[in-house]
Amino acid sequence: MAEDSLDRLYAQHVQTLMRRADHALAGAGFDALVVMAGAPLVQFLDDQDYPFKVNPQFKAWVPVLDNPRCVLIYSPGSRPKVLFYQPVDYWHKPADLPQGAWTAALDWQPITDPAQAPRAWADLGRVAVIGPGEANPPEVLTRLNYERAVKTDYELECLRRATAIGVRGHRAAQAAFRRRASEYETHMQYLEACVQREEEMPYNNIVAYNEHAAVLHYQHLARAVPADLRSFLIDAGAQYRGYAADITRSYAAAPGAFADLILAMDDVQRALCAEIVSGRDYREVHLSAHRRIGDLMHAVGLTTLPGQAALETGLTGVFLPHGIGHLLGLQVHDVGGVMGDKDGHERQRPAGHPYLRLTRMLEPGVVVTVEPGLYFIDSLLAAARADARGAHINWPMVEALRPYGGIRIEDNVAATETQPENFTRDAFARLAA
Ligand code: GLY
Ligand code: MN
Ligand code: MN
Repeated sequence: MAEDSLDRLYAQHVQTLMRRADHALAGAGFDALVVMAGAPLVQFLDDQDYPFKVNPQFKAWVPVLDNPRCVLIYSPGSRPKVLFYQPVDYWHKPADLPQGAWTAALDWQPITDPAQAPRAWADLGRVAVIGPGEANPPEVLTRLNYERAVKTDYELECLRRATAIGVRGHRAAQAAFRRRASEYETHMQYLEACVQREEEMPYNNIVAYNEHAAVLHYQHLARAVPADLRSFLIDAGAQYRGYAADITRSYAAAPGAFADLILAMDDVQRALCAEIVSGRDYREVHLSAHRRIGDLMHAVGLTTLPGQAALETGLTGVFLPHGIGHLLGLQVHDVGGVMGDKDGHERQRPAGHPYLRLTRMLEPGVVVTVEPGLYFIDSLLAAARADARGAHINWPMVEALRPYGGIRIEDNVAATETQPENFTRDAFARLAA
């Protein structure tokens, strides 16, 4: 898509945000909305900041991610305005006013002193202020959070582009693994291919060789290469204008039972992606994943119960202890995943599945991850061995597969009016073409 088309989509996106804000403010008896970008946290006993993470409600309006203390002001009937922070500072480079056709969708006013900012909304009546440490009136914030699940066309394009960037990183990481780079070096190759700094990533890269792949959010980057390199799980994203990709791939170093299991999991994952259709309850997708993986484990002889029985007895949970996915957007785990309505009433998770982050109905424009996994996690296996589930597990096969850690395959998928759009598979296919 050409840049001028994206600019047009951004202008429409701002119109949508204005409409959503009109309803949220009117419903809660407010006259105006003020959204703070936020300020960086300072390290204890130090003069160094932690990396700045902008308020997601701010970047929903303004794709400026790296300039703290800006403010978005919206009063229904007026154009949204950005108070753009430009301090006099010779220690740091003050931000330049953004350029480009997209900026015409907003009004821009430079400020040098954040303490003066409240004057800009002093005459606007009852103001809902959203931001870290602010009043955050729940009746306004909840509604804005709920509505963020349905992406505008601009947001869909940003998510498509974020995914395409991440896929470039994944290809580079795969190549690094094949030439036996360390986890650390593979991570660096990933960043290099994405042309994004570590702190620009939407979450910490998970770069896990061998048994490390059994740690769901493995957080280290080993500098040494294991003598026997068997498997590789990489869960790494990227961002575009503040929108996140969240992609996982699993690889085997050599053909064999683990490589076959990855291929079988890939079939399961594709089938689950086909379930991302408007009108489907995402909780059903999650339960479907358990049944499908239960059937797969039964078919390869890892367990002795078919999928439905494996789900009901908790057997699948030994190998798949996380939710099958979540909303994706301005945050990697986007807000509002368990809201049943605009008032924020919780939509219950299925009993026994406390980690599921998304329980909503799918509708056109909702973007989710689909990330089935199958892991060999010592603590969960030990617990299963000690209870009734142990009798249904093929322990010699577990021992043979445990050194490979586990498998996760994760795509970013949009529900549409018709077929799901799989940003991740599309981007891999384009890169291969
Ligand atoms: N990368 C975190 C997740 O997959 O949810
Ligand atoms: Mn992930
Ligand atoms: Mn995810």
